[in-house]
Amino acid sequence: MTEFVDIKVVDCAQELNDALEVRRKVFVEEQKIDPSLEFDGNDFCATHIVAYVDKKPVGTMRIRYFKDFVKFERISVLQNLRKSNISDLMMKTAVKLCAQKGYETIHGVCKKELLPRWAKDGAFPIKNAKPIIQNGMELIPIEQKIPQSEKVLNIQTSLDVLNKKEGQWFESSEVEGTYELLTKTQLSHMQEMKEKVKDSKKQGSKEYISPKTLILNTDSTKTY
Ligand SMILES: CC(C)(COP(=O)(O)OP(=O)(O)OC[C@H]1O[C@@H](n2cnc3c(N)ncnc32)[C@H](O)[C@@H]1OP(=O)(O)O)[C@@H](O)C(=O)NCCC(=O)NCCS
Repeated sequence: MTEFVDIKVVDCAQELNDALEVRRKVFVEEQKIDPSLEFDGNDFCATHIVAYVDKKPVGTMRIRYFKDFVKFERISVLQNLRKSNISDLMMKTAVKLCAQKGYETIHGVCKKELLPRWAKDGAFPIKNAKPIIQNGMELIPIEQKIPQSEKVLNIQTSLDVLNKKEGQWFESSEVEGTYELLTKTQLSHMQEMKEKVKDSKKQGSKEYISPKTLILNTDSTKTY
């Protein structure tokens, strides 16, 4: 059965609780981080994104805003749903939201083991920045560039638009959405397929294979 992921920008207390519950499970229970360090007070000045599967919160991250950059923090997915597209979907949503606010740079910190994961999104270690110790872990400062959005909020944007819910400023470019839940294996099959379709189009082949067909035919059992 096809499962779906709903990506939401938190706009009520219940959703904030959902975000914090995911972090409690991942960082406090699984990674044994002291709750007083995990819940540092900055949750009240951040934008939170939550991923839901079957209406249950399964992933979250938060964004904090500074003059020249945004900081992405606390990204987490419940253990049984990792190696899926959930973290990609949350990241894409956060990047789109920040692009529409006009930001160009993301900062973050991550463990060495996660560098290859964030490199896939275009993140790289900040040159000459020393690792920092946070919540008892050694973390590497990283940076990622945000592609410019066609639609950006600015001082001339009408108040009608500015007053809309976060991320719903521009019609047909809302940042929230519902997506098919995919494993990383399915995602990479899809990517391969897209490349093949591109190649076959370039070579003028009449045979068109839809990426969807590949997903349905793939033998990749769910790895989560
Ligand atoms: C970060 C996260 C959202 C990424 O989800 P994802 O895109 O599905 O990626 P994966 O879970 O497959 O993680 C990618 C790799 O990083 C490793 N990894 C993930 N979190 C890690 C951690 N806290 N410490 C060490 N390694 C970690 C995974 O084992 C995996 O390694 P592999 O590719 O060799 O199997 C998810 O791994 C997670 O929730 N981790 C725990 C929370 C966390 O540490 N967040 C900090 C983010 S900077």
